[in-house]
Amino acid sequence: MLKLGINIDHVATLREARYRGRDFGEPDPFAAAQVCEAAGAHGITAHLREDRRHIQDHDVWRLRETVQTRLNLEMTNTPELVDIALRLKPDIVCLVPERRQEITTEGGLDADGQWSALTDTRQRLNHAGIEVSLFIAPDLLQVEAAARIGAQFIELHTGAFAELFHSKRGRNEEIERLVAAAEMAHELKLRVNAGHGLNYENLPLLHVVPHLVELNIGHSIVSRAVFAGLGAAVTEMLALLRDYPAR
Ligand code: PXP
Repeated sequence: MLKLGINIDHVATLREARYRGRDFGEPDPFAAAQVCEAAGAHGITAHLREDRRHIQDHDVWRLRETVQTRLNLEMTNTPELVDIALRLKPDIVCLVPERRQEITTEGGLDADGQWSALTDTRQRLNHAGIEVSLFIAPDLLQVEAAARIGAQFIELHTGAFAELFHSKRGRNEEIERLVAAAEMAHELKLRVNAGHGLNYENLPLLHVVPHLVELNIGHSIVSRAVFAGLGAAVTEMLALLRDYPAR
């Protein structure tokens, strides 16, 4: 069964837009994680970025205490974040590249170029009982490097597929790349996740990619939730207005 991990960063982005620097505020990513798990999600993903633009340190500690499924900590490979991960002990760490100017994680890791540093971090995390995933483009060189590094998982970056979805040729080429990368990863005994830019429209096409274990999806689910829940939120507020006493 293909599993669903939910990326709750987008809930924290909304909170930070209003409550940046405060130790309270809504919406609460922790409460979002609880709703996702109650709805059947198989895991919760949170990206602790170097610039802390959405998820904060206190969020990951609270998530660690409460997530009942699997906590996937996304982070870039820096000494500060590795130290946090070793203390936090998420179930799995997904190592991603990070650029300060980017809106979201735009490219995959250069696993081949950063082989030595990634191997060192992979070993340290594994020794602490934490599985390691590498977020890489569907590129055979990177898949082979991930196996050499000794990662347990790769997460195939589906961003290019999502971007090219409305071009039949472009999306078919990307699907071919994803299929080839997943097949090679499977042969090399890597387990295969995928994510980025997946939504209710493009997801069915991914069913042709073999060996997928879990998809990590955030933006489209949170976007859908706005409309799935907006009517109910307005109804609740109207009920409060109705209590206004007539004078
Ligand atoms: N996987 C990784 C490694 C990511 O960086 C992201 C984006 O935060 C996702 C999955 C989820 O992407 P999206 O929000 O586009 O569904």
